[in-house]
Amino acid sequence: MSELAGAVVLVAGASGGLGRILAAQLEAAGAVVVRAGRSADRLQGPDAYLADLRERTGGASLVAAALQAHGHLDGVIVAAGVVAFGPVAELDDDVLDELFETNALGPIRLIRAAHPALKASAAGGGKPFVLTLSGVVAESPTAGMAAYSASKAALAAFLSATSREFRRDGIRAVDARPGHTETHLSEHPLAGAAPSFPPGLAPEAVASRIVRALVDDEKDLPSSAF
Ligand SMILES: NC(=O)c1ccc[n+]([C@@H]2O[C@H](COP(=O)([O-])OP(=O)(O)OC[C@H]3O[C@@H](n4cnc5c(N)ncnc54)[C@H](OP(=O)(O)O)[C@@H]3O)[C@@H](O)[C@H]2O)c1
Repeated sequence: MSELAGAVVLVAGASGGLGRILAAQLEAAGAVVVRAGRSADRLQGPDAYLADLRERTGGASLVAAALQAHGHLDGVIVAAGVVAFGPVAELDDDVLDELFETNALGPIRLIRAAHPALKASAAGGGKPFVLTLSGVVAESPTAGMAAYSASKAALAAFLSATSREFRRDGIRAVDARPGHTETHLSEHPLAGAAPSFPPGLAPEAVASRIVRALVDDEKDLPSSAF
């Protein structure tokens, strides 16, 4: 039986291309999945909660909902995010705010809010984890995506330091940095238009690589792992 069997896992961004597949694959591995998203029309299921990660209390409200429904929380996956394209000279302030609020500040607050529950999971014999999806741009910041790259590098740096702190509490923190993946993310950017990327990774393959890393107790998922 998988390590994930019976684990309660909160998936933020479960209405998105990667989050939706990750949630399904986690369930197939035996996890109890709590889905979170921003838009009611794209998020479905009985155990699904709406929160905007740009709001300061967004992440904490999701942790509270998961705990109220299940009494414990053993994993958090942050698959929420937004992208923007275009030169720095044309970078709009609202776009800049939304990139950092959604890709960095919101996830950081969510992870902070989940820490007590994840610590309790470890104390109770669980193998709790946090997993973020920063992306290859955190390793190789990309021209035409400077602010997106910076917001993801901020998240990756937070995870790197957090992994060392959380280890003492028995919590694993893993940052996954896949390259371009064939979801609809780049089709609805906050600004600009996507360059013509070469064919990307299959979302199912990215998700299954992540689930395997969770089961196999891997500590990091650099771009080279995908
Ligand atoms: N696709 C790629 O090439 C790629 C590569 C590396 C890393 N990543 C990262 O992987 C993650 C998932 O990407 P994806 O390709 O699955 O994108 P996607 O299909 O566009 O999904 C994005 C998800 O983020 C949610 N979201 C956006 N803004 C939010 C907010 N303010 N509060 C709460 N949720 C919010 C969306 O919710 P709604 O549906 O309600 O809007 C949706 O569930 C992102 O962080 C992305 O940067 C993607």
